[in-house]
Amino acid sequence: MKPIPGAVEIASGTHWIGALDPGLREFDIILKTANGTTYNSYCVRGENGVAIIDTVKASHAEEFFHRLEQVARYDEISTIVLNHLEPDHSGALPELMRRAPQAKLYISAKAQLMLKALVKTDGLDFNIVQTGDSVDLGGRTLRFFSTPFLHWPDTQCTLVEEQDILFSGDVFGCHFCDSRLFNDQVGDFRFSFEYYYQHIMRPFREHVLEALELLEPLPLKLIAPAHGPILRDAAQSYVRRYRQLASPLLHNEVGADNKSLLVFYISSYGNTVLMARAVAEGAEAVSGVRVSLYDLQAMGDLPFVDLIEEADGIAFGSPTINGDAVKPVWDMLSSLAVIKVRDKFGAAFGSYGWSGEAINMIEDRLRGLKLRVPIKGVRARLIPTGEELDKCRDLGKQLAQHLTGTLDRRVISMSELLAQEQSHA
Ligand code: FEO
Repeated sequence: MKPIPGAVEIASGTHWIGALDPGLREFDIILKTANGTTYNSYCVRGENGVAIIDTVKASHAEEFFHRLEQVARYDEISTIVLNHLEPDHSGALPELMRRAPQAKLYISAKAQLMLKALVKTDGLDFNIVQTGDSVDLGGRTLRFFSTPFLHWPDTQCTLVEEQDILFSGDVFGCHFCDSRLFNDQVGDFRFSFEYYYQHIMRPFREHVLEALELLEPLPLKLIAPAHGPILRDAAQSYVRRYRQLASPLLHNEVGADNKSLLVFYISSYGNTVLMARAVAEGAEAVSGVRVSLYDLQAMGDLPFVDLIEEADGIAFGSPTINGDAVKPVWDMLSSLAVIKVRDKFGAAFGSYGWSGEAINMIEDRLRGLKLRVPIKGVRARLIPTGEELDKCRDLGKQLAQHLTGTLDRRVISMSELLAQEQSHA
C-alpha cells in the first residue's frame, strides 16, 4: 500500500491534516472535477488546547486520523469547529467525537439540524456561535464569522486572529487536488477556482457580497479553504476576485434608474419572431425600461445566463412542436439553476399549429424557478393576426410596467377572467 503523506505545517503550530481525493471526477452530481479534490482539515495548537477545524468525507477518514495523530493526541483536543456540515466535511466527525469525547463542538445555529441528522445520539453537546464569538486556545484565538449559504445555510468562517489565517470552508475553495498543497506550488488552478465560483457560489451571489463585507477588512495572510489549494501567496487577491465575480455589472450600463427586459424567442416559420418583436415594441413604449431581443437559435445558452442574472424581467417565445416547447428554450431554462432568478418577472408567448401547450409549460417552469409571472401569455395559431400582435404589445407593455412599478392596478371581474380563458381555449 502506498504510504500516506504526513501532516503539513501551514503556519507556526497550525497544520493541514486533510485528505486527497485525486480520482474524483464528479462532485455533487453537477460539478466536473478533472483534477479530483481535497477535503481540507486543519489542526491549530494553542498553549491551552488544540482545535480541529472541519473533518473529511467518511471514505477518507483513515487518512485524516493518520495525519491528526502526527500532530496531536486525542486527549489534547479541546475544540472542534465545523464550518460546514455537508458530508464532505463532516463525514469523520462522529468518529472524531468518539475519540475525543472531551472536545467542545462549535457550529452555527443553522447547523444544529444537520448535526442531529449526522450524529444520531441523544443529548448531543455543542456550542452555537455567530459573528464576533471567539474561543481562546491560549495564544491562539479562533474568531467566528457567520457566512450563510456559502454554500449551505449553515456555513461559517473561522479566523486565527494572531496569525491572520482564515479557515473559510467552501468559499475561496475549488476542486483541485495537488499534493503540493499551496497556491504558489501547485499547478495552474485558475480555471478550477472560477468554475467553482460559477457553480457553487454564484447562485448565492447576494450572500457572497454580504460575507465580503465581513471578510474584506481582515488583513488576511493566508486563506485555508475546505477544498483545493491553500492560498498563502497574495491571499487577499482571491477575496478581491470574489468581489469582482459577485458584483453586478450590467446596471452600470443600463443605469441605476432603468430596468432591463430580455425577450428571447425561437421561431420555426417566422411567426413567433413577429410576436417577439411586438412584445419588445410594447415594452419599449414604457420609459425607464431597456429592452433586448435575442434569437435563441443563433447562440448557445452561456452568454445569456450572464445577461439574465443582471436582468429584471425575461420573456420567452417558443413555438409548440409535438405538444412541447422546443429544446433550446428548455436548455436555457435549465441553465438558470446556477443563478438567482427568484422574484424577477417572467412571461411566455408563441405561435402554434394544433395545441399550443408550450406557453403554459414555460410559465409553469418560470413559476417553478420562483419568478413572478403576472400576465397570462399570448398564443397565436400559426400566423398572428393584428389583434394577436396587439395582445403581444400589451403583454410587453404590462411586463415593462411591472418592472417599473407603474402598472395601473385594476380589479378583474370573474366574468372577464372567464372570457379571457375561453379566448385562449
Ligand atoms: Fe465542500 Fe458544501 O461542501
